[in-house]
Amino acid sequence: MTTVRRPFTIDGKPFFTLGGQSRNSSGYNRAEAETAFYALKLLHGNTLEIPVYWEQVEPEEGIYDWSSVDTLLAMARENGVRLVLLWFGSWKNGVSSYIPTWVKKDLVRFPRAQGKDGNNKLVLSPFHEASCKADATAFAALMRYLREADSDEHTVVMIQVENEVGLMPESRDHSAIAEAAFRALVPRELIDYLTEHKGSLLSEVNELWGSTGYKDAGTWTEVFGESVWTDEVFMAWHMARYINKVAEAGEAEYALPMYANAWLVQNDKQKPGDYPSGGPVSRVMDIWRAVAPAIDLLAPDIYLPDFKAVCTSYVRSGNPLMIPEARQGPEAARNAFWAIAEHDAMCFAPFGIEDIDLNHPLIESYDVLRQLMPLITKYQGTAKMAGILQQNADEEGTTIDIGEYRANVRYNGQAKGQADMSYGLIVNIGPDEYLIAGNWFQVNFSPMTPGPRHAGILQVWEGVYEGEEWVPGRCLNGDETAAHWVAKLPPNDHDRFAGSDRPRILRVTLHRHD
Ligand code: DGJ
Repeated sequence: MTTVRRPFTIDGKPFFTLGGQSRNSSGYNRAEAETAFYALKLLHGNTLEIPVYWEQVEPEEGIYDWSSVDTLLAMARENGVRLVLLWFGSWKNGVSSYIPTWVKKDLVRFPRAQGKDGNNKLVLSPFHEASCKADATAFAALMRYLREADSDEHTVVMIQVENEVGLMPESRDHSAIAEAAFRALVPRELIDYLTEHKGSLLSEVNELWGSTGYKDAGTWTEVFGESVWTDEVFMAWHMARYINKVAEAGEAEYALPMYANAWLVQNDKQKPGDYPSGGPVSRVMDIWRAVAPAIDLLAPDIYLPDFKAVCTSYVRSGNPLMIPEARQGPEAARNAFWAIAEHDAMCFAPFGIEDIDLNHPLIESYDVLRQLMPLITKYQGTAKMAGILQQNADEEGTTIDIGEYRANVRYNGQAKGQADMSYGLIVNIGPDEYLIAGNWFQVNFSPMTPGPRHAGILQVWEGVYEGEEWVPGRCLNGDETAAHWVAKLPPNDHDRFAGSDRPRILRVTLHRHD
């Protein structure tokens, strides 16, 4: 298993991807990919996520064509950006549309999942070694090719194995082999894993297992009870087992960090099968962890409005946060700060960047986050950095205990929508010194340690980072800090010339007094 270090490093330097994901069909050739690279550059991003298609690279069994991969490597290098390659192999969004035609046509060697009615689906059944082996062989060939073509330059920094896997609309595969597996005993490795991690299992799997009194042997329904949630656990085990074999085969050739991404549960009413059953949704992360050690992390594709809740559910049990797909609306400009500062995310990437507006606010956000990368990566994993994110216009603010002070953050009470709700980060960069960045909030401080009772603002500097060097611009005071009552972003609400709607960086020093 590749160890994904926190912070994530590339060529010895801490790094996080200010990413963007292309549309699905942009990896085919230079003409298609050009728009995606153009859009990423426009966004001031540093990493393009783009697919590699099994059907394209292995058009005939054992005959590989790496020209599309060569093109992507060349274009990334020309543009000075990194790549996250998405392996569209056995499954993409719960179906198997990207398998090569020689796999698609051979239902005997590569059987399909079946519904209760016995009909084949357009989905490879994960219960067949031949399918797994064919995918793993192709994936290993890709990784071997990347090792030869890119292990010096490290253009490719991470690999997504498959895409949003799982079965729909039924909660499990009903083909004969799957039914037999469902009636068989739960594999010993899973029981052992659950037993070993009993005190630290996530609540969902713990409750399911607890519902039968933590049985340590039996069939799936005996161990987890009779419900669709058991179907999901069963499918998660078998999907993850298959994907682990694919990932392991690739890793043996070239050990890049690998992750699996999830089509999320959309609301509380949904049951497995309404969303892809067996995919790495957060409620079954324990199952994936148990059987797929070659998958370094499980990653949410976040299109849901409650961005904070999804992040929280995915950082449980030490899962590093990586967001390979996110909504590309104006909220992307805000959510990137939250993911990276609050949860040490190693990647944030809106989907379908070819559609992005020329004046998308993410451009300014990425500019600031890029300036702050050395500082952010220095403070990731410590308690000295926090994110700021207002998700609803009626939220008034928050308090953040950080260093020796409590930061009293007031959100934008006048927010009209996603574009002017509060977001950013705060870092305790020294004794009595804070860096704040983002927009549409105000902050002052209260002491939390013994000594003089009040904290006053000594100075507020607006500035930029050039490399690791802080280059101060104005020293803000007067109206721009309400006479040093608060540090404000923006300093002026209606700045017609410099603009109010962009994130900025401030450094604030404090002094204590009675
Ligand atoms: C999620 C998928 O993972 C992407 O490949 C793409 O199909 C988007 N949905 C479209 O919204």
